[in-house]
Amino acid sequence: MGQTIAITSGKGGVGKSSVCVNIGFHLARKGYRVCMIDCDLGLKNLDVMMGLENRVLYDLRDAMEGRCTLQKAVLKDKREDNLYLLPACKSVNLKYFQGSDLKAVVAELKKSFDYILLDTPAGIESGFVHSIACCERVILVTTLDITAVQDADRIIGILMKEDIQDIELVINRLNPKYIEKGISIRLEDALSWLSIPLLGYVFDDESVIRANNRGIPVALNQSSYINECYQCIVKRLLKEDAPLPKYKEKKLFQKLFG
Ligand SMILES: Nc1ncnc2c1ncn2[C@@H]1O[C@H](COP(=O)(O)OP(=O)(O)O)[C@@H](O)[C@H]1O
Ligand SMILES: [Mg+2]
Repeated sequence: MGQTIAITSGKGGVGKSSVCVNIGFHLARKGYRVCMIDCDLGLKNLDVMMGLENRVLYDLRDAMEGRCTLQKAVLKDKREDNLYLLPACKSVNLKYFQGSDLKAVVAELKKSFDYILLDTPAGIESGFVHSIACCERVILVTTLDITAVQDADRIIGILMKEDIQDIELVINRLNPKYIEKGISIRLEDALSWLSIPLLGYVFDDESVIRANNRGIPVALNQSSYINECYQCIVKRLLKEDAPLPKYKEKKLFQKLFG
């Protein structure tokens, strides 16, 4: 039986979809069968990030409402044999989005996949609530912007109310220069504010934006230093030991003398 993990956040645009796709690729490369579900209804992103948008014939809604079989709706990645995507619907009226239908889809997928990754909508609207209800485990994504951390804190409260205990943190777009200048808060401060285990962090890098826009996730660029971050995240997700990639804030001496 597969494990279901929701990738979520309080604030939008912090990198949930990027984190979902790249974790998906790294897990698949390790030999696990992975299916990602784009639950960000109406704002679908994963098909574009994976370069699969032209192959979408059926979507999550078709599968939930029984208009096609799950096998027909699930797309196989072009490059990674173990990686699959159930795309989001192009248009959706959230009133008709039934949590029980999503649960049934997830339960079916669990029979043939090791990991189901749900890319959830941000915040606390119904798509989020339904997605969370299907998961054993949650990866909470935030940047080090104070508003994002504040919203992440609120989501932790909501998850705990729903009795979800297994919540781990991914800090995305970590930029040591911003921390140094006081533009972002410090990693240690975010960790003590949120008080949940840190799975890992991903540096802020324009290669991620380029990769997403081209439909060629950064995980496919083996030489990218961003992949060190994702390798670490995935190892820790699998409960393996992995030290966090190194970064340092420049000390005053370095700032003065380069
Ligand atoms: N590590 C990163 N460094 C730089 N840009 C990033 C990084 N992660 C995500 N982005 C960019 O940030 C934007 C939002 O990311 P996305 O994954 O779509 O967030 P969400 O799913 O939370 O809305 C996109 O333009 C994406 O390419
Ligand atoms: Mg997204």
